[in-house]
Amino acid sequence: MPSRTSDTSDTSDVLVIGGGIIGLVTAWRAAQRGLATAVVDPEPGGGAARVAAGMLAAVTELHYGEETLLALNLESARRYPDFAAELTELTGHDLGYRRCGTLQVALDADDRAHLRELHVLQERCGLESQWLSGRECRRLEPMLAPGVRGGLRVDGDHQIDPRRLVAALVVACERSGVVFHRAWAERLDVARGRAAGVTLADGTAPRAGQVVLAAGSLSGRLAGVPEALLPPVRPVKGQVLRLAVPRAYAPFLSRTVRAVVRGGHVYLVPRENGELVVGATSEELGWDTTVTAGGVYELLRDAHELVPGITELPLTETRAGVRPGSPDNAPLLGPSGLDGLVLATGHYRNGVLLTPVTGDVMAGLLADGELPEEARPFTPRRFGVADPSAVLQEQPA
Ligand code: GLY
Repeated sequence: MPSRTSDTSDTSDVLVIGGGIIGLVTAWRAAQRGLATAVVDPEPGGGAARVAAGMLAAVTELHYGEETLLALNLESARRYPDFAAELTELTGHDLGYRRCGTLQVALDADDRAHLRELHVLQERCGLESQWLSGRECRRLEPMLAPGVRGGLRVDGDHQIDPRRLVAALVVACERSGVVFHRAWAERLDVARGRAAGVTLADGTAPRAGQVVLAAGSLSGRLAGVPEALLPPVRPVKGQVLRLAVPRAYAPFLSRTVRAVVRGGHVYLVPRENGELVVGATSEELGWDTTVTAGGVYELLRDAHELVPGITELPLTETRAGVRPGSPDNAPLLGPSGLDGLVLATGHYRNGVLLTPVTGDVMAGLLADGELPEEARPFTPRRFGVADPSAVLQEQPA
């Protein structure tokens, strides 16, 4: 295990760039392993978790060709109960972790065919998913539209409130002695062929034995990282709505309801506190986070087709964020190709789900020098990282 270097605020064993859920869980778990840890972020607890709905949807978000990712998603889902209990015990925060299951429905013949294919894939992967008729779906969720043609009942796909989760992770970090540098990371500093720290927008330059790049979509463009080693992460915009279910209407929905409507995904995530989250668009528009009339219209139109009563509810918030997309939709976990720099980024649609396992494997790597088995298919090396010695010849010492 690397030695603890110092408790001063500008030198640490581990410096995590990015104070979203992935950076925070990495910092918390690293600190628990006895490493002096710091986080760089102007606003820890921000990022995509402020927008995300928080579905823990390993089974209903399964896609063809993503069976390797499925294994990691299932492993993280398996760890969720203990992870949530530990975080709540440490911080006293209720995380809104709700083991409510998910119903994925179809509205027309095309959507039904799509869902049938998904069911075959789920069964081939050994997942628990039960085909229901339209009538059976409506018996479970009476607010569903009469036109629902069938659906999949997945009792193992749950939800958590990402805003509560990220707030609890900030507190967990503070209680575990993590130091926060509340400023933007302007550049990675490389000295003698290894990552040495970062230069911040406030002019300070904290140093560290190991640097973790966990800055979500921004990870792909941090100055100072050799260009050939920059993670191939891009922003994928998602617009999300929040509505409020008045007490008189409860329970409006008792589980997450999702569907593919004319090829687009829509989901409704009902919280115990009456919030109903409706998401999400998926748009390749770079860094744009504008909430558009078209985005809101499409979400409400599709959600209304699914659950007509939704138009009665107060609309309390519209928001857009960016998911950190990677070329194969799976995260990048592990050595970057530059000594002293490791990656925890590119979680795309599964950041909230993958939080527990990411914290564990990153802490394992940072404390023991070895990436745990379950993360090995996800090293950045799969994208053909350049030979580090060649890359480093371009770098000033
Ligand atoms: N996991 C849901 C989304 O990315 O929209």
